Amino acid sequence: MINIRLMGMGDYPQLIDLWSNTENIGLSEADSPVNLDAFLKRNPGLSFVILDDDKIIGAVLGGHDGRRGAIYHLAVNREYRNNGYGQALLTQCMETFAEIGIERCHIHVYADNQSGLDFWQKKGWFTRPELVLLSKDISRPVKISR
Ligand SMILES: CC(C)(COP(=O)(O)OP(=O)(O)OC[C@H]1O[C@@H](n2cnc3c(N)ncnc32)[C@H](O)[C@@H]1OP(=O)(O)O)[C@@H](O)C(=O)NCCC(=O)NCCS
Repeated sequence: MINIRLMGMGDYPQLIDLWSNTENIGLSEADSPVNLDAFLKRNPGLSFVILDDDKIIGAVLGGHDGRRGAIYHLAVNREYRNNGYGQALLTQCMETFAEIGIERCHIHVYADNQSGLDFWQKKGWFTRPELVLLSKDISRPVKISR
């Protein structure tokens, strides 16, 4: 049976397996157990998994900074695509954003992920050619012991 529920850290092994085996999903230090746990605690009610019985077949991470929402790692197992599961995950996330007053949401998509871009645009998401994404890594402060 297919059902959707909130993501929990108990899902971690299956999530890493899903994301590692999904094209156009880039894993980083942000996906370590400690960082995913912190993300879920900071953004309650916004990340979901979809299951076929006990098997995770899709997932999405949702977060926000109090102003704008962000969606990460939307993925559906290849064997289960085109059944509405990606949309179902997205809907759960967007409904929670609406409930907590987040009025716009962003997603980063690899520029060469044409299929992903097609999906988002078909669902009403629009590109922002007037904007460019810039990033900077934050180094941890070094503790000096005396
Ligand atoms: C993108 C992805 C999550 C879609 O999941 P899915 O379960 O197959 O999507 P759904 O079945 O819910 O499709 C919902 C709608 O989008 C359309 N759609 C799905 N994939 C599409 C694609 N590649 N191009 C255009 N439309 C697409 C469906 O036809 C459907 O349209 P409808 O509402 O008019 O019926 C899945 O293809 C995936 O995991 N891709 C790889 C990872 C990825 O690129 N994720 C996005 C990262 S930015």
